[in-house]
Amino acid sequence: MLALTTMLTLPTLAAVTSTTLITGASSGLGEEFATRFAARGENVVLVARRADRLNTLARRIETDHGVTATVVAMDLGVPGIGETLRTTLADKGITPTTLINNAGFGTHGKFADEDPARVAAEIALNVSALVDLTLAFLPGLTGALINVASTAAYQPTPNMAVYGATKAFVLNFTEALAFEHRASPLKILALSPGPTRTEFFDVVGSEDAAVGNFQTSEQVVATALRALDSRRTPASIVSGLSNKISAGSVRLAPRALATVISGRLLKA
Ligand SMILES: NC(=O)c1ccc[n+]([C@@H]2O[C@H](COP(=O)([O-])OP(=O)(O)OC[C@H]3O[C@@H](n4cnc5c(N)ncnc54)[C@H](OP(=O)(O)O)[C@@H]3O)[C@@H](O)[C@H]2O)c1
Repeated sequence: MLALTTMLTLPTLAAVTSTTLITGASSGLGEEFATRFAARGENVVLVARRADRLNTLARRIETDHGVTATVVAMDLGVPGIGETLRTTLADKGITPTTLINNAGFGTHGKFADEDPARVAAEIALNVSALVDLTLAFLPGLTGALINVASTAAYQPTPNMAVYGATKAFVLNFTEALAFEHRASPLKILALSPGPTRTEFFDVVGSEDAAVGNFQTSEQVVATALRALDSRRTPASIVSGLSNKISAGSVRLAPRALATVISGRLLKA
């Protein structure tokens, strides 16, 4: 009878696979997240625009870690992307159990000089797509939701006014969701890196937007994993000791002072 029960339940257990969906997986933090989650035995879904990069990463992950890596090459900065991606994956029989909203980019310079189309794309990706993807996938999540914010979220950022505001949105949104789900086993985390060696500043077009010491993607993702593995996952975490200290002190300082300091540090 026991043997029969075991035979009946084994296939059911085997069918329960954890799948992590990572946006912006074609470089930087997203690539590192994908590799680290695959190393933990999770299947991964890799999303970004550059299919060649994603396919190369998927092959490497499958060879190195023996999990399934599914590539979805798409632009996330379009309306309704959450439902589009959810149905694309459902058609393949995939329901992600962890979502990492990592795709994002920054613009730099005085706001009045910014390219309106680029600013609109920045808000569409960093804010609208993140909210839309969270809405679409949240009901199926059982592992974690990680939203990548930034130390730019902690104070106004003159000369990166829109970018900092999008990340302040991500931080506040995620901390609010974490509270709403405080009784649920789902871990919800806003991760705020400081300057990190990725392609981020190539896209920004200037390293003048970097304030503080650079970390590596490995260091930043390790910070997120430690937070996820801790008994009480915090709603938000800043990566790197000096970044943590400056984000913490900004929270204690008057906002006007924080804006002046940030405006002096972030060159136009
Ligand atoms: N690096 C830093 O210093 C730093 C600091 C704080 C926060 N962050 C945040 O960390 C996250 C990851 O950035 P990163 O540093 O790893 O930079 P990155 O190397 O430039 O990676 C950005 C990723 O986003 C993807 N992406 C950009 N636009 C997209 C779109 N429209 N649709 C789909 N995917 C898109 C890119 O892939 P494709 O080009 O192939 O689409 C790429 O995979 C971002 O949210 C960023 O704001 C970075």
